[in-house]
Amino acid sequence: MTAVFDRPKRPPVIVGITGSSGAVLAVRTVEVLGGLGLPMHVTYTAACKQVWPDELGHPIADDLSAWKQRFGAHIFNPDDFRAPMSSGSFRTAGMIVVPCSMRTVSALAVGASSNLVERAGDVAIKEGWPLVLVPREAPLSAIHLENLLKLARLGVKIAPPVPQFYLRPPSLDEAVDTMVRRTLALLGIAEALPDALRWRSGEE
Ligand SMILES: Cc1cc2nc3c(=O)[nH]c(=O)nc-3n(C[C@H](O)[C@H](O)[C@H](O)COP(=O)(O)O)c2cc1C
Repeated sequence: MTAVFDRPKRPPVIVGITGSSGAVLAVRTVEVLGGLGLPMHVTYTAACKQVWPDELGHPIADDLSAWKQRFGAHIFNPDDFRAPMSSGSFRTAGMIVVPCSMRTVSALAVGASSNLVERAGDVAIKEGWPLVLVPREAPLSAIHLENLLKLARLGVKIAPPVPQFYLRPPSLDEAVDTMVRRTLALLGIAEALPDALRWRSGEE
């Protein structure tokens, strides 16, 4: 039997996970991409290894190996600058950084690349590929806002994790699912949207 991740190749979606609150957003993002059978290359920062057990009760290593098994995800260490996503000559379907810390936002805004998430984001910006950030912080300082504005002006999509209150989500899980699907649609993955949301997206 052909596993879903053995389908003919599309370029992979790059998923970068940083050490801001919102680990569940990263988990759902990978699950939705994997459920759609889309190839993905995943990397993460050292800081998110601290946040993960605080928020999810287990180490990120558990999820990384599960994503490999379930979805055929390719996982890259934070300091692996030889990873394909490090190079502009490696074709990707774009990158999502979810959740995105203010530290990573600042690094992207100044073009610093001290880990693989930052390098891949820097490559997406220089190559003009789709890049979506899911920044999570509150309140946002003027420094955060200036960095985000700078990135938005470069064409980076800034998609804070804001629940769709008007859909009256019955649970946090459903609110997270909708936020993730809307964010993936920004990356051009329209099939992530369920029909109901596709219809609604025309009305806002
Ligand atoms: C439990 C926990 C929650 C955090 N939440 C946030 C957050 O929501 N936003 C943020 O910008 N940083 C947050 N931080 C701080 C970042 O982890 C820290 O700034 C780190 O340097 C980010 O590094 P990275 O961008 O390489 O992941 C949090 C840290 C911990 C331990």
